[in-house]
Amino acid sequence: MVKKVEKLPDHVCIIMDGNGRWALSRGMERNVGHRQGLEAVREATEFAAEKGIPYLSLFAFSEENWGRPQSETDALMSLIVKAIHSETPTMMKNNIRCVFIGDREQLDKNVLERMDTCVSQTAGNTGMTLIVAVNYSGKWDILQAVKRILELNPPSGHLLSPEIFSTYLATAGVPEPDLMIRTSGEMRISNFMLWQLAYTELYFTPVLWPDFRRPDFEAALNAYYNRKRRFGKIQESL
Ligand code: IPE
Ligand code: IPE
Ligand code: MG
Repeated sequence: MVKKVEKLPDHVCIIMDGNGRWALSRGMERNVGHRQGLEAVREATEFAAEKGIPYLSLFAFSEENWGRPQSETDALMSLIVKAIHSETPTMMKNNIRCVFIGDREQLDKNVLERMDTCVSQTAGNTGMTLIVAVNYSGKWDILQAVKRILELNPPSGHLLSPEIFSTYLATAGVPEPDLMIRTSGEMRISNFMLWQLAYTELYFTPVLWPDFRRPDFEAALNAYYNRKRRFGKIQESL
């Protein structure tokens, strides 16, 4: 029998989905769902930190999300700014270091400033690393890595290995996710960490993100513990 996973995942990533449907099903506008989702962000972050999970990544805004009505993207951006500000004390309290990944080009100055302030304020924290993906997409990440590699002088493409390539990704230095959780019942990756998810265990739950609580996170971890990770090998060679 293949050995079950016994240890805590080093890196959990979450596609926080279902805010819109949570609000619409209550006869409210979509943005109410985004605001409500913040409570779930706080709880998941504190839970992961308490558990001792070293890295937690949250997909907050995808490059494709710009295709939504401006009223919604504006609301999401101001919510992100507000949340970074309001959650920094929680990060300090829980010894959490916060970093952001994503394309900074299309982000407003006030969003970038808030992000940078939070990164420097929490830089000395030694507990969990929280990675927030804002204007992120997996294809963007791979392309920005390729572009930087093509600019290397002298050309060093021939030296590339998966390990070296990873150091050019936005997640450089971060272990690849062991577990990816997606809420709201959708079973897709939606252009999240395409390279990094190569051997990640995927967990899908119908729970909408604003309803996602500690027991839901616990259930995802329990599912993970029961997975048999083979990485292409067979029991005898593991
Ligand atoms: C996830 O919830 C939040 C973001 C994508 C920013 P959605 O807004 O996608 O909610 P649904 O999927 O429409 O319910
Ligand atoms: C994925 O959710 C992006 C985030 C959670 C930030 P979406 O709601 O944008 O994904 P699709 O459109 O259902 O694939
Ligand atoms: Mg969605």
